[in-house]
Amino acid sequence: MAAQSKSKRSQEQPLGRFDTAAREYVIGTPETPLPWINYLGGRDFHSLISNTCGGYSFYRDAKLRRITRYRYDSVPLDGTGKYLYIVDGDAAPWNPGWRPTRTPLDAYECRHGLGYSVFSSAKNALHAKLTVLVADDLDVELQALELTNRSAARKSVRIVSYVEWCQWNAEDDAANLQRTLSLGETYVEDGIVCHTTGYRERRSHYAYHAASVAVVGFDSDRDAFLGPYGELGSPASLRARTPSNSIASGWWPIASLVCEVTLDPGQAQSIVFATGYAENAEADKWTNAGVPNIATAKRVAAELRKDPDLVQRTLREQQARWSQLLDVFQTTTPEPELDELVNTWNPYQAIVNFHLARSASLFETGRGRGIGFRDSNQDCLGVVHLIPESVRERLLDLAATQQSSGAAYHQYQPLTKSGNDEIGSGFNDDPLWLVLSVCAYVRETGKLDLLDEPVPFEDTPASQATMLDHVEASLRYTSSRLGPHGLPLIGRADWNDCLNLNAHSLDPDESFQRAPMRTNGRAESVMIAALFVLAARAAADMYKGLGRAAEAGRYAALADDMAGKIESWGWDGDWFLRAYTHDGAALGGHRNDEGSIYVEPQGLCAMARVGEPSGLTARALQSTAERLACSHGIQLVSPPYSRYRAELGEITTYLPGYKENGAVFCHNNPWVIIGETQLGNGDRAMSYVRAIAPTYQSDLARRRTEPYVFAQMVAGTNAPRAGEAKNSWLTGTASWSYVAVSQHVLGIRPEIGALAVDPCIPRSWKRVLVRRTFRGARYEIEILNPRGVSKGVQRLVADGAVADGARILPAPPGAIVAVRVELG
Ligand code: BGC
Ligand code: NOJ
Repeated sequence: MAAQSKSKRSQEQPLGRFDTAAREYVIGTPETPLPWINYLGGRDFHSLISNTCGGYSFYRDAKLRRITRYRYDSVPLDGTGKYLYIVDGDAAPWNPGWRPTRTPLDAYECRHGLGYSVFSSAKNALHAKLTVLVADDLDVELQALELTNRSAARKSVRIVSYVEWCQWNAEDDAANLQRTLSLGETYVEDGIVCHTTGYRERRSHYAYHAASVAVVGFDSDRDAFLGPYGELGSPASLRARTPSNSIASGWWPIASLVCEVTLDPGQAQSIVFATGYAENAEADKWTNAGVPNIATAKRVAAELRKDPDLVQRTLREQQARWSQLLDVFQTTTPEPELDELVNTWNPYQAIVNFHLARSASLFETGRGRGIGFRDSNQDCLGVVHLIPESVRERLLDLAATQQSSGAAYHQYQPLTKSGNDEIGSGFNDDPLWLVLSVCAYVRETGKLDLLDEPVPFEDTPASQATMLDHVEASLRYTSSRLGPHGLPLIGRADWNDCLNLNAHSLDPDESFQRAPMRTNGRAESVMIAALFVLAARAAADMYKGLGRAAEAGRYAALADDMAGKIESWGWDGDWFLRAYTHDGAALGGHRNDEGSIYVEPQGLCAMARVGEPSGLTARALQSTAERLACSHGIQLVSPPYSRYRAELGEITTYLPGYKENGAVFCHNNPWVIIGETQLGNGDRAMSYVRAIAPTYQSDLARRRTEPYVFAQMVAGTNAPRAGEAKNSWLTGTASWSYVAVSQHVLGIRPEIGALAVDPCIPRSWKRVLVRRTFRGARYEIEILNPRGVSKGVQRLVADGAVADGARILPAPPGAIVAVRVELG
């Protein structure tokens, strides 16, 4: 289905275009407005790679196991990567990705695909095709360089690789030079350069760089490679033409290999470079005294040499795996941009977020944040239909960081899986997201047994707690922390990390995230109240599924009770309030000169159907459309704050129109979209989708970030650079957008006992096709809209039988079910 949806609009873009059939984004120039990156590796070894070959790698944990170094704010930008220099006779050396020499190329193209990138470039009739990917089984990044001589003369070409090692802990590596500059070590054997810093002491891991052909020399000391005050654009060793075979001793260890090929006219040759990570058991660390055991590196190098098809085969296998995975949900709608989003790029981005949370991008340095509790739970929502087993494992990991009080560590480190003490807990929305993710898993898979899985609480390791106990503890955490209006206490902050209503910080050296609560923290959050209603109703449904009517009734009543509190204390006349401050003042209401309306409670209350029968949600979404929406999406708050207000915190530190202070903070746009679909407003819902989705953007120069993924924020109308995006790739938007579009616009929604098909689409759409695998059966769904409505299933026929309402009972695994839905 994906192959049919060619986007004409995007093919006209000069900077780049979608190649829908190949599931690739094709970048036509190395000089993009910002580096446009891709992620390689889907298990333990992860790399980021930009369209000029900048980027870095790490093993599992971007902070504790950083393999290669990156300088985030280098001048020029994006100046660290795994580079290959091509030295063709006496001409200026060049790179297939243009950087770092920036020698003008005769041809350049970069294709970012799902987990791989391919560069095609040419200079002086020498053509280079560089394919880069991670072989997950080998924990190695492979760069396959194919050179073709398209000239009439024989060419002798030297290829010089370059990798800059990081000393594992990315934080120390960047900050503690007085120590790290006396630690660096390399070990070279059989043309393999190994990075062994720390191996002599407590580390039993090393990294290595190897080639598939014999090397004529190497460097492993950066100063030797670059020369004094040298630059990557013109390393001394390229000019000297003789590698120095340097061995690092302290300072800056690198790996550079020199290979030579001779190419007759028309001849092509491939060389593969590998950058890998290996661990040894304590007893196997050394072969002889002082000689590291690098058997893994040697095995991989030998494999490169004997298997010339390794990279292409791995690529084909990965492509096949991706298309099988994405086949779980494919659609054809009247809008090719939507198909491009739903069929390929949105789920791809959601999976990257699932793996990395907010740890490593070009905006997130991976040095501070591990995996965020709320972030990761939300990331599960958009991928659970694709990778349910990984989600289950993640939910168990997350629950294991929860305390018996229900409090959750705000973050944990992926390597140790333990909660991060520095930031601790007290973000009072955190626990509730676990309820949503657990319920989403159960609805998708029907596997209620997750609820019986033993997961002890972090503070009581001997406890016999089950996952269901964690769900209950999460809900109890909120209902036992209520403030003066009976609304949930906000704690350090809720979803909006920048509303620090209890900190009142006047100390510029204090982090808002960690500032002590100056008081007893009486501020209350309408956002958490709405999230509680949503979570408690989801839990009630789950209890119904378990056949436990009493608990189902109890949670439904708690939800109703909280919804009532919101209606009494959280309604401002035309929209929902955001919070009550520590001093008891209403926040996010018409009495506030700035910050008079916030998006979070409008979206979440609509999703949780708070006040829907009495028309409050419709009114709130109308106010959202009038006061927060702009052509770039829905802004977080309006008007934005023009000065610092200690009683509100970090939100007021941002320039008006940026980040939480009134940017289009894309993450919560889908909440409004879902709300609109629940009210039947398919046209408005889709207009919001079009505003934020990357595949619909046309002003790529203004937007600047990658046109194939969501960014966390797009500057709002109050910013001089309205429409400019920042913080691309790692954002909860990916997951939520996918949920909003697939489950609420297209309306294919898993329930505990059924698959609902209940779309809410623009009235002009006549026909939509969806292919969905659900609990092992495949549903070929055709949605027809002959009467031009947005919502309302008039007739649903599954395998010839008319269904009752908009629900299909799950078919046995392996079944193929033809579903025809008529709206009207
Ligand atoms: C950002 C938030 C983010 C928080 C995480 C703040 O500076 O504005 O978006 O959630 O940091 O630590
Ligand atoms: C990004 C953070 O990762 C997320 O946890 C938070 O909810 C949003 N920023 C809003 O502040």
